[in-house]
Amino acid sequence: MPAKILAVVNQKGGSGKTTISMQLAGALAHLQNKVLVVDADPQGTATRWAATAADVTPFPASVVGLSAASSKVHREVKKFVDDYDYIIIDCPPAADSPVPQSALLIADLALVPLIPSPLDMWAAVGIRQVIEQVSAVNEDLQSRLVINQCQPHTTLAQEILEILPSFGIELARSYVRQRQVYRQAAVFGQTVYDFGSKAKEAISEIQALTDEVLAILRPHNSQEF
Ligand SMILES: Nc1ncnc2c1ncn2[C@@H]1O[C@H](COP(=O)(O)OP(=O)(O)O)[C@@H](O)[C@H]1O
Ligand SMILES: [Mg+2]
Repeated sequence: MPAKILAVVNQKGGSGKTTISMQLAGALAHLQNKVLVVDADPQGTATRWAATAADVTPFPASVVGLSAASSKVHREVKKFVDDYDYIIIDCPPAADSPVPQSALLIADLALVPLIPSPLDMWAAVGIRQVIEQVSAVNEDLQSRLVINQCQPHTTLAQEILEILPSFGIELARSYVRQRQVYRQAAVFGQTVYDFGSKAKEAISEIQALTDEVLAILRPHNSQEF
């Protein structure tokens, strides 16, 4: 079976695209899948993340830099589909870059990490439009908003969470909370799994997100949700 392809998109820098890409890659690899992260951001954060990993605990997925392919990212990604189970495309933070459009053309699922704040929500309108446009061509494209850096007990987060269901992109049920371990994982080139029981809450929320993603990617007739 060709690889299932996830595009992690949002024009806002700092919304958590690379964090979600790398942690999902870690969780999928933990389930014995062959995973490729496509670093489609010229800043090369995903590439640097994996390169930082210690030799004894190498990053569990391959990472390839394809930002130079620009509007042809989908063509370059196609070359890898028979060699992996999952391909995760970590996109650059620019809606006017041709890369997110190109990645979405070939994706089965668009994940849009979003920090629950008004500014971040307004900024996500652009990517919603891009997803809508690409959906006219890639009719099977599914999409989910993934709340990141969530602090669920704050009033602001609760207010935003109440209005997000009407945003126009379906909301994933799993949230990723604001946790120090996500920053530490980036510093050491690791995934939350490398932190063991110290990171058990983070591991369980990444696992929940992964389970949800896997359920979405299953053929429609076997979808359980
Ligand atoms: N859930 C989280 N909790 C704490 N810090 C986070 C979380 N998600 C992302 N970060 C931090 O926020 C910053 C931006 O995240 P990053 O994944 O690089 O965003 P993007 O790729 O969208 O620009 C990084 O310093 C990252 O470590
Ligand atoms: Mg990034």
